[in-house]
Amino acid sequence: MTEKRAKVVAHSNIALAKYWGKASVAENLPAVPSLSMTLDGMRTTTEVVFDAALAKDQAELGGVVLAGRPLERVVALLDRVRALSSCRLRARVVSSNDFPTASGLASSASGFAALALGATRALGLTLSSEEVSALARASSASAARSLFGGFVALGANAHQAEQVAPAAHWPLVMLVAVTTQSPKATGSTEGMQHTSRTSPYYPAWVEHAPRIYAEVRRAVLAKELGPLGLAMEHSALLMHASMIAAAPAVIYWSPITLAVMAQVRELRAAGTEAYFTMDAGPHVKVLTTQENALRVEQSLGVVPGVERVIWCGVGPDAHLVEAK
Ligand code: DP6
Repeated sequence: MTEKRAKVVAHSNIALAKYWGKASVAENLPAVPSLSMTLDGMRTTTEVVFDAALAKDQAELGGVVLAGRPLERVVALLDRVRALSSCRLRARVVSSNDFPTASGLASSASGFAALALGATRALGLTLSSEEVSALARASSASAARSLFGGFVALGANAHQAEQVAPAAHWPLVMLVAVTTQSPKATGSTEGMQHTSRTSPYYPAWVEHAPRIYAEVRRAVLAKELGPLGLAMEHSALLMHASMIAAAPAVIYWSPITLAVMAQVRELRAAGTEAYFTMDAGPHVKVLTTQENALRVEQSLGVVPGVERVIWCGVGPDAHLVEAK
């Protein structure tokens, strides 16, 4: 057969306890433990076709052909998968997100998780989800977590993620407030490298992150939203403080980010449980219960500058759609 293909879906994830900084740059191992919630409302669909007719690997995302560094990262992952098999065929990768790519939300997490799963399944490799997670982690550490549904941990120095609890454990809602796009942000890989090299607060982040992670993990397992929300906010703010203290500063927030944070605090003061977190961009993700989600969604939607709010429940494992 001169063609081997698979089509897969992987869901995005948002870290409740953040990963920021590498223990090994060469192996892409995280310096701190992280724990995420997989999102049912944001997913990447990827088809990988290994084809004897191709002279080179090619990839497109949302109809845009990749070149330069983004293509190199795809080829590097395909090379790692080919090294595990006897296949030397080049591949065509066609990927799309069901969330707005242009908004700057397109995280590498669901993308590399889908690519790792799609490429291994296309070649018929029988790897465990943990082994596929390790392949995805080498490309982007947050992608290791997107192989699994529910609540997912990636330890410090860990090669692969592990599921802490399945989606059915706790039906929380993450509302993603998409803010007006600011000019090109620093990529997370570059931002964390710069933070670790230049921020006097980076050692403090690495020192305190494991304790916050332990509290996030405990609160997820105990289903205690109050303690979880506070630990989640602390993780995000400590991570952003380390970036802001870099030289020059890495600031992902816009005035709208701050306005959404203020809105969440007001909701809480008025008795609605809701908590924020932010990643390498200006958007704010707000964690709440199913009962409160509609009210929270409406109050985030009226903050000036919020373009839309994406509703995400807890998502499933990355999975195969079709193969042949
Ligand atoms: C702020 O996984 O994108 O979203 O491993 O260099 O590809 P690389 O970094 P990446 O970093 C994600 C950082 C974060 C926090 C998180 O998802 O834990």
